[in-house]
Amino acid sequence: MRYSLVFLMISFAVFLIASGAHAQEGRGESGTVCLDCHDSDIMKPEFRPVPSEWRKSWHYQNNVSCHDCHGGDPKDMAMAMSSERGFIGKPGYAEVPEFCGKCHIGILKNYLESGHGKALKATQGGPNCVTCHGSHDIQKADINIINEQRCTQCHTYERAGTMKQALFVTEKKIRDVEEGIRKLKRAGVFTEDEGKTLFNTTAEFRTLFHSVDVSLIEDRTDGFIKKLDQIDSKIKAFSRELLFRRKFAAFLMLVFLGILIVFFLLSKTSE
Ligand code: HEC
Ligand code: HEC
Ligand code: HEC
Ligand code: HEC
Ligand code: HEC
Repeated sequence: MRYSLVFLMISFAVFLIASGAHAQEGRGESGTVCLDCHDSDIMKPEFRPVPSEWRKSWHYQNNVSCHDCHGGDPKDMAMAMSSERGFIGKPGYAEVPEFCGKCHIGILKNYLESGHGKALKATQGGPNCVTCHGSHDIQKADINIINEQRCTQCHTYERAGTMKQALFVTEKKIRDVEEGIRKLKRAGVFTEDEGKTLFNTTAEFRTLFHSVDVSLIEDRTDGFIKKLDQIDSKIKAFSRELLFRRKFAAFLMLVFLGILIVFFLLSKTSE
């Protein structure tokens, strides 16, 4: 009897530990011959920083490699930069949107319909993706990309400032919800569905910036806040449940301990 109790206690402890376990995500540098040359001394000095900038980027972390953007053959050294193998090379200023937009389709669409996109196509007077994001050291995007230095190259900051204000409310809500999900994850609770909904909502919202249309963003803000509130209340419900489960687990532990002591005392008195 006493052994089975100890066994129960141990398996209970193991269960508690196991339920907190996490899976690790993997990332890496997929083999590409582009780097055999571009990392080497044959490269001219202006081009040498490219691979190390790329290794710091969000694209690198997501396995987007040289040939994913520039085309070419990542397996064949001799033909790597051949147009027959789809090599595009360095895109011209006005070609950059389509170059990036083959993957970022929704953003390309909003951008091309915007004042920026139209000005780029008409006179090359608008900013392209690289103007705001860079090319090789691209990081996760946020509204701090909108700043005096970058946005006053072509017009006053006033327009940019109202844009930033319009985005701010929703961005703050996104950060709060993200923090809520992170806390739950640390506590070992998986909120995969909520994470996905948040990701999709965020992506949808952030393409909006590229319209550079302040009134459009103001019109859509209520809808986004409503969606985010829904995710937020689900997360809060999870947190309450978690707290309850913890209290309940502590309660069970005490009960087990009590039983153990009783058995111990009983066995003492029977001896
Ligand atoms: C996210 C897409 C993307 C990835 C990934 C990428 N590039 Fe580029 N690359 C660009 C763009 C855009 C330009 C043009 C930059 C500009 O217009 O200033 C460019 C320009 C270049 C240039 C010309 C630089 C210059 O100063 O004229 C070289 C060389 C180059 N890339 C090599 C590479 C190599 C090697 C890799 C892999 C380590 C790589 N690129 C990965 C988008 C990318
Ligand atoms: C055999 C060596 C070698 C390989 C392999 C190689 N490159 Fe290059 N690449 C070069 C050299 C050398 C230059 C500089 C040419 C010059 O001096 O303008 C260059 C220039 C570039 C440029 C900028 C100039 C342009 O023509 O657009 C890009 C972009 C580029 N390489 C991308 C790639 C990608 C992507 C791969 C892999 C699919 C690759 N390279 C594989 C040697 C190589
Ligand atoms: C081969 C497909 C591909 C190309 C081409 C590409 N990207 Fe990406 N990009 C991705 C992937 C995959 C991610 C990572 C997933 C994500 O965060 O959306 C990403 C992420 C990003 C992010 C960060 C998104 C975030 O979550 O904040 C930015 C900014 C970005 N890309 C800009 C660019 C720009 C600018 C270019 C052109 C110079 C470009 N991308 C070309 C596939 C691509
Ligand atoms: C390379 C030049 C250039 C840069 C850099 C630039 N813009 Fe613009 N912007 C333009 C042009 C050109 C237009 C459209 C023509 C016009 O209305 O003057 C425009 C228009 C706008 C508009 C009004 C759009 C409309 O439809 O009424 C906003 C808002 C705006 N830009 C925001 C920004 C922000 C925010 C930044 C910085 C992240 C920025 N711009 C950086 C060139 C630029
Ligand atoms: C005038 C500056 C500007 C230009 C031009 C621009 N972007 Fe952005 N981009 C931003 C800003 C600012 C954000 C962040 C918006 C936010 O946080 O709401 C952003 C966000 C993004 C994101 C992240 C979306 C997400 O899901 O988090 C991607 C990807 C991206 N841009 C790609 C591109 C591509 C591709 C182009 C060219 C077709 C482009 N951008 C042109 C300023 C710019």
